[in-house]
Amino acid sequence: MTQTATEPQHQTFPPPADLAAGAVATADLYEEAATDRLAFWGRQANELLTWDTAPTQVLDWSDAPFAKWFADGKLNAAANCVDRHVAAGNGNRVAFHWVGEPGDTVTVTYADLHAQVQRAANALSDLGVRTGDRVAIYLPMIPEAVVAMLACARLGAPHSVVFSGFSAQALRDRVDDAQAVAVITADGGYRRGEPAPLKPAVDAALETKDGVESTVKAVLVVQRTKGEVAWTQGRDHWWHEALAAAAPTHEPVSVEAEHPLFVLYTSGSTGKPKGILHTTGGYLTQAAYTHRNVFDLHPETDVYWCGADIGWVTGHTYIVYGPLLNGATSVMYEGTPNTPTQDRWWQIVETYGVTKLYTAPTTIRTFMKWGEELVSGHDLSSLKVLGSVGEPINPEAWTWYRRVIGGDRTPVVDTWWQTETGGIMISALPGVTTLKPGSAQVPLPGISVEVVDDEGRVLPAGHEGAGYLVLTEPWPGMLRGIWGDDERYRDTYWSRFRDQGWYFAGDGARRDADGDVWLLGRVDDVMNVSGHRISTTEVESALVSHSSVAEAAVVGASDPTTGQGIVAFVILRESAHGADPASIGQELRNHVAREISPIAKPRQVFVVSELPKTRSGKIMRRLLRDVAEDRQVGDVTTLADSSVMASIQAGMSAGK
Ligand code: WTA
Repeated sequence: MTQTATEPQHQTFPPPADLAAGAVATADLYEEAATDRLAFWGRQANELLTWDTAPTQVLDWSDAPFAKWFADGKLNAAANCVDRHVAAGNGNRVAFHWVGEPGDTVTVTYADLHAQVQRAANALSDLGVRTGDRVAIYLPMIPEAVVAMLACARLGAPHSVVFSGFSAQALRDRVDDAQAVAVITADGGYRRGEPAPLKPAVDAALETKDGVESTVKAVLVVQRTKGEVAWTQGRDHWWHEALAAAAPTHEPVSVEAEHPLFVLYTSGSTGKPKGILHTTGGYLTQAAYTHRNVFDLHPETDVYWCGADIGWVTGHTYIVYGPLLNGATSVMYEGTPNTPTQDRWWQIVETYGVTKLYTAPTTIRTFMKWGEELVSGHDLSSLKVLGSVGEPINPEAWTWYRRVIGGDRTPVVDTWWQTETGGIMISALPGVTTLKPGSAQVPLPGISVEVVDDEGRVLPAGHEGAGYLVLTEPWPGMLRGIWGDDERYRDTYWSRFRDQGWYFAGDGARRDADGDVWLLGRVDDVMNVSGHRISTTEVESALVSHSSVAEAAVVGASDPTTGQGIVAFVILRESAHGADPASIGQELRNHVAREISPIAKPRQVFVVSELPKTRSGKIMRRLLRDVAEDRQVGDVTTLADSSVMASIQAGMSAGK
């Protein structure tokens, strides 16, 4: 090891004094939650939400692992997100500064949302949607996406948002599984400077297949690009016409706390996507609580921006429900970060004075690759807290994010959670925690996390150790099941540590001597080289700490001698283009050996121009493993760009 105390993973950053002085979350929260966890959650539910009938119960775990939170309470999600802010006199507050990719903008106030959500709820109701019916939403990042979700919530009709980058088949699979009665979509949206049609995918998805009709009776179509669309009379309706024709006021449906709010599909280890079910009272409590405390939200002054897409859980909880429950002002952006120029995000931060920014490590590394000159021309001094989510953030990216975007000043909170957890589970609190780059650090107050070994023994406190991440107590935002598949729910999350009754997250983690948690990636991505457990993330992090590397993906390929050998795929930074691949490969192998240990030295390093990623930005290591093991490459249909694998293979054979 050649690490010294000045290397990023060894630096620490205490909270800035001014931020700590005015922070909404203080260290008292930990103490309160530790004293009486359920009373703590009861207080959060009562203070953060407005109930039609206030709950007297907190948790009912008698039918574990099927939880009930706040079961005797009643409320409406949309009324909590919108109506109560208008009633409190904040109707003129901006809910969204929306920015279209071509440069058009819309300012949506809470009063605007109130008017539109009521009309949309009436329009859905006019089309036959009833409380309890599922509605699929397949929309680009436009304000109507938020209105559509809230209109469903207002009716108590669970929404199932399907990422608009998914194929017609993927949409059909999800519509069928959820038995959705309606789809809300658009003619198209703007991506990479071009209008991209969406309606044709809906038309294809809803065709009768093998004699089986889709369950969808109505399609509402938002007009965004004004491109030509095919029309099915009787089934298709323009959103703007339906809303104009609908009654302007709508009484929100008061539902029980455990009424389903949404189903969101996520991929599992098998091919069939899982419909993750979230209900109303508990999910909203955790959404509001985490958004307020992790982002130190001051709704009167903050301008918050989450760069995710509403098609993912991050968009659900941290674009829609969390911010709106808290009465926040948010930025919402339709397009890609490099359209029309690579500094688009920084223009937006500057224009709107964004104070809190939330994005993924893959995006941060992309910005690193593009170079910091693109950032330095913009005034980003409004930023106060930066967040990261989606994958382990390597210390290099963490420190770059803090230094270049955060002006060497802002806390960076690395937030660990999952579609299944509903909201953030492990994260620093920006006004409290002394930060360690690359560590998600500590469970939030009210959340119980352990790192355990194969047999489920909790790793001893005060010692460094690695194992599996488990959640040892139920939490309000937890999934209530997999839609229509109770057995899969038990098997996937509750069977690995059945005796202890713990939730198995599927992630590996290390706990350091201070008790801070470092995520190591999915457990299926942990490699075993000569009996040593090495995380793909650890090696990737070492590779990107080299000045020539922009991005890296590492897989364990089977090896006759060592069990697995480490194979790395790297994208070089602009400055290293043209370097001799053989010598750079050797240099990087040595670099990893130096950074981690010779046992972590990659067997091979391939220089590539792109990595295979899903549409949500996750690297598909399975495909790289196929390449590394010289097998035919498996199913590429969930890649954002299915041609990437062919180009990687072509590049490799050219280099052989
Ligand atoms: C990974 C996204 C390390 C993890 C909110 C988890 C993370 C999976 C982090 C869930 C993080 C998410 N550090 N790993 N801060 N955040 N993950 O369902 O493997 O799309 O199990 O939810 O992403 O992904 P999902």
